[in-house]
Amino acid sequence: MENEAKKVMLSGIQPSGDLHLGNYLGAIKNWSVRADQFDCYYFMADMHTITVRQNPADLRRRTLEQLAQYIACGLDPEKNTLFVQSHVHQHAELGWVLQCYTMFGELSRMTQFKDKSKKNADNINGGLFAYPSLMAADILLYQPDLVPVGEDQKQHVELCRNVVQRFNGIYGDVFKMPEFYSTKAGARIMCLTQPESKMSKSMPEGCVFLMENPDDIMRKFKRAVTDSDTERCVRYAPDEKPGVSNLMSIYSAVTGKSYDEIEAEFEGKGYGAFKPAVGEAVVELLRPIREESQRLIKDKAYLESVYRAGAEKAGYVAEKTLRKVYKKIGFLQR
Ligand code: TYM
Repeated sequence: MENEAKKVMLSGIQPSGDLHLGNYLGAIKNWSVRADQFDCYYFMADMHTITVRQNPADLRRRTLEQLAQYIACGLDPEKNTLFVQSHVHQHAELGWVLQCYTMFGELSRMTQFKDKSKKNADNINGGLFAYPSLMAADILLYQPDLVPVGEDQKQHVELCRNVVQRFNGIYGDVFKMPEFYSTKAGARIMCLTQPESKMSKSMPEGCVFLMENPDDIMRKFKRAVTDSDTERCVRYAPDEKPGVSNLMSIYSAVTGKSYDEIEAEFEGKGYGAFKPAVGEAVVELLRPIREESQRLIKDKAYLESVYRAGAEKAGYVAEKTLRKVYKKIGFLQR
C-alpha cells in the first residue's frame, strides 16, 4: 500500500560513449536525491544509441559498464530499478503508438535532431527523427512525477508533456504529466576547452570521464580555457567569463559551495590557484566511483542478476501502462 503512494522518478542515459562529468552533475547526481521518497527507475538507453551507427561489441561492453557505474555512483539496486531499455519490449511498442501522436513539425524543431543530422549527414534515419517519441514512451510507461535530466534534454521532456496533453485530451487521464527536474549548478556543464559548447564525449580534451585517471583529470583542468579579460579574478558572469563561470559551476556542484563562497575563497588568488583546486575536487569526487566501478565490472554474474531483476520489475509496470493504452486506442485484446 505504501508503495502505491510513492512518487516516481525516472531517467536514462545512452551507452553511446563513456559517462562523463556532465552526465554525472547534470543527471546521475540528482537521481539519488530524495530516493527514499521515490520509486526510481533508471535505465541504459541502448535503443536510442542505434540512431547513430554503433560498433556492436562496444555497445554491449558500454551498456554493462554503465550499469556498474550507476551502482558505483550510489544507485543501490535494492532501492532503484536498474534495467536495460531493450530488455523491456514495451518501450518499442509504446514508442510506435506515440509516434502516431507526435507531430512532424514538433519533431522537426528538436535541437538534438538538427545537431545530430549535421554531424551524421550520411545517416539521417527515421529513428533519429522519431527519437523523442521513443523517449516519451520511456518516460510515460512508468508514470513518473519527475524526470531528472540536464538542460539539453528539457526540450524532449517538453515534447513529452505535449504528447500527454494531446493523448489525454482524446482518451481521458491515461498518462500522468511528468515534470522536468534539474539543479542550477549542474544543469549545463560546458566543455573545458570550448566553454561555449556543452561538455560532450565528442570533444574528449574538454571532457572529463568518470573513469579517467587523476593525472589526466588534473591536466585537463590545468589546461581549461579561462577568459582573456584583464581582471583575472574568480567571478561568476557566464556571458562575460564563460570559462571561469563553468569551472565555478563545476566546483559549486561538486562541493556544494555557493558562487559567493567560491568568489570569497579565491579572492586575490587568480586562475592559477583556482583551476587545480577544481581539478582536485573532481578527482576526489570521482576516485571512489572509479574504484567501485572497477570492482563491480569484474562481477559479471552480479551485474546480470541486477539487470535481470530490473527488467522484470520494469516490465511489470510497463505492461500495465501499455495494456491501458492499447485498450483506450481500440486494439483488440488478445
Ligand atoms: P544523453 O545520453 O545524451 O545524456 C544523459 C544525461 O546527461 C545529461 N548531460 C548533461 N548535463 C549537464 N551538462 C552536460 N554537458 C551534459 N551532457 C549530458 C543529459 O541532459 C541527460 O540527462 N535522450 C536522452 C536519454 C534518454 C532519456 C529517456 C532521459 C532516453 N530516454 C527518458 C530521460 C528520460 C539522452 O540522449 O541523454
